[in-house]
Amino acid sequence: MKHLIDIKHLTNDEILEITELAKFYEEQTLKGTLERKNTGSVALLFFENSTRTRFSFEMASKKLGFDVFNFDAQKSSILKGEGFYDTLNNLNAIGCDIAVIRHSREDFLQELSEKHYDYNLSLVNAGVGKASHPTQALLDFYTLQKHLKTVEGKKVVIVGDIIHSRVAKSNIELLNRFGAHVVCCSPSYFEDWTLTDAKYEPNLKTALKDADAVMGLRIQKERIETRIPYAQYIEDYQITNDNLPQSAILMHPGPVNRDVEIEGSILDSPRGKIIIEQARNGVFVRMAILNLLYKGVER
Ligand code: CP
Repeated sequence: MKHLIDIKHLTNDEILEITELAKFYEEQTLKGTLERKNTGSVALLFFENSTRTRFSFEMASKKLGFDVFNFDAQKSSILKGEGFYDTLNNLNAIGCDIAVIRHSREDFLQELSEKHYDYNLSLVNAGVGKASHPTQALLDFYTLQKHLKTVEGKKVVIVGDIIHSRVAKSNIELLNRFGAHVVCCSPSYFEDWTLTDAKYEPNLKTALKDADAVMGLRIQKERIETRIPYAQYIEDYQITNDNLPQSAILMHPGPVNRDVEIEGSILDSPRGKIIIEQARNGVFVRMAILNLLYKGVER
């Protein structure tokens, strides 16, 4: 691997290699035997807000021994007119080996990955617009494997704002590849008609029947210009103690808006703990990704 831009660029073997290495890192962390032996540098360039992704990439980098640099666009020479590709090529020349980037423009990472970098920079997509969030899908897959052993034949229900969700799109792509039965559930104003790889069921009770895993999604207010009927949405689509099947694990990529997409009290109960575990699993999965990228090309 040179870059990690999209799930579609990864083979199933590469995905399994990432989750196996993540498992190794989780075990090493638990045993206290992790070695911080990488000598490279990681730059974090976030043009949209983030808590989990940015911190877990920073934590993953530091656990592996990488130096980490946070890029502040507002204090950078981008404000003097420098283009982002030139910025990246200069950061690479200065010594950054891997650039982790979040941006609102959907083709941004793909375009950047097609450019030449003088010292072999690797790029990682940390979430672009509504289009893709591959490292979130990989950590979700890792979490599902831990709790369900396999996703093959398992019913995974994704509930909420599907159309604005990059997490949903990357998850649908990955889970389909591994034989999961993915069902999307949302009101029509959040349905994405272009997603042909997932079944759509507008009724929450019907969708949740026999679910093995339920993923809640946040309403992405920052990407929505029209008025959302929140009270009706909560009545029809909130995941609650009553409607969450006993058979299902509950997941959410975060950030959660308590009492909107999920009844707040579930989050504080044992059934809400996997959501917090997802954030922790993200560190191990991102350690695996960084290590494979660092070793994937000559530096
Ligand atoms: N899941 C996720 O991407 O969270 P952040 O926006 O906090 O990084």
